[in-house]
Amino acid sequence: MAVQSLEGLLTQGKLKGRRVFVRADLNVPLRDGKPSDISRILASLPTLRRLLGAGARVILSSHLGRPKGQRKAELSLRPVAAELARQLGTAVAFSDDCLGESTEAAAAELEDGQILLLENLRFYAGETGNDRDFARGLAALAEVYVNDAFGTAHRAHASTVGMVPFVAEAAAGLLMQKELDKLQIALEPERPFLCLLGGAKVSDKLGVLEALAPRADVLAVGGAMAYTFLAAQGVAIGSSLVEPDRIEDARRVIAYAKQADCRLLLPSDHVVAREPGEGSASRVVSEIPDGWMGLDIGPDTAARYAEEARRARTLLWNGPMGMFEVEAFAAGTRTVAQGVAQSEGSSIVGGGDSLAAINQLGLADMIDHLSTGGGASLEYVQGIELPGVAVLER
Ligand code: 3PG
Repeated sequence: MAVQSLEGLLTQGKLKGRRVFVRADLNVPLRDGKPSDISRILASLPTLRRLLGAGARVILSSHLGRPKGQRKAELSLRPVAAELARQLGTAVAFSDDCLGESTEAAAAELEDGQILLLENLRFYAGETGNDRDFARGLAALAEVYVNDAFGTAHRAHASTVGMVPFVAEAAAGLLMQKELDKLQIALEPERPFLCLLGGAKVSDKLGVLEALAPRADVLAVGGAMAYTFLAAQGVAIGSSLVEPDRIEDARRVIAYAKQADCRLLLPSDHVVAREPGEGSASRVVSEIPDGWMGLDIGPDTAARYAEEARRARTLLWNGPMGMFEVEAFAAGTRTVAQGVAQSEGSSIVGGGDSLAAINQLGLADMIDHLSTGGGASLEYVQGIELPGVAVLER
């Protein structure tokens, strides 16, 4: 079933002068009190501009980090309000609560085309607990609800699910719709379909590995999780990070891929060091000696994965190929990023480090879709229903 669109509400003239609660995903990293990566803020702008231009009174909300129901000064959304004001070129009022009398008063004072950002929703446990009273309190702030928080659509929280039955109108925002449209490509891929998966843990990616191994033509694994796969095949991995309790799961994924004729690619050379930190001596090996740990895919593996990326007609990349945050172990991720950018087919990239690599190399314009959702995009491509989307369909 299709979700109601923001454009639909706009053409019905339903938004001028109305209070519109927008749930966005403004969960951005902060450094020295300022957003250090504003991609999610930028991605939220089209919906906000459209609403403000139509004369709506926008009450914007988000979570930031995981404060677990505690008010934490370092997780305040106030710095995001300042950045938003810069980007929108208009004042962004800030409420240092997300409900209660002061917030209700600030929302009531809004005039047509004005915007108010609420404080971090997760300062209340009712947000993640999807508490009914908390949800009702949020819904009381506005007449219309727009969910543009694709990155949080896999969470059934008060602001993404619980408040929807309490509002008169609910719609998906422009970013939410764009994400759903673009990610659909991975559900109906042109072939060859390549999935490049990296990151530290098999446990984080098990669902997506199991779901994609039978559907992809090529599954290329990098990052520390590759060592659990190599261990499952009896390959020596020295002191590389491994999840012993996931070795059986890795074997199952290998078997699924084999049954489905999916080529499962694992690293054949490695950048190793004795310690993971900055400044530790590293070298490239094809067999990892005792006492050394793999911290990045080696140049041959990186070239192989990049070549697969160039040839793919559909490509999904999530997760770094090595310890990308340390310069000595970043080359594999960068080489793969270059291959992804040169891909002949449709490319979808999600996950913080993969996006950082693309942005660092100035390749963002060459990618078809940079997803703002890490976990959400992985769940969506597995075919899992996202609660924040499903509720808009009802
Ligand atoms: C994310 O960064 O993936 C989203 O904002 C969701 O955050 P969460 O994993 O803390 O729910």
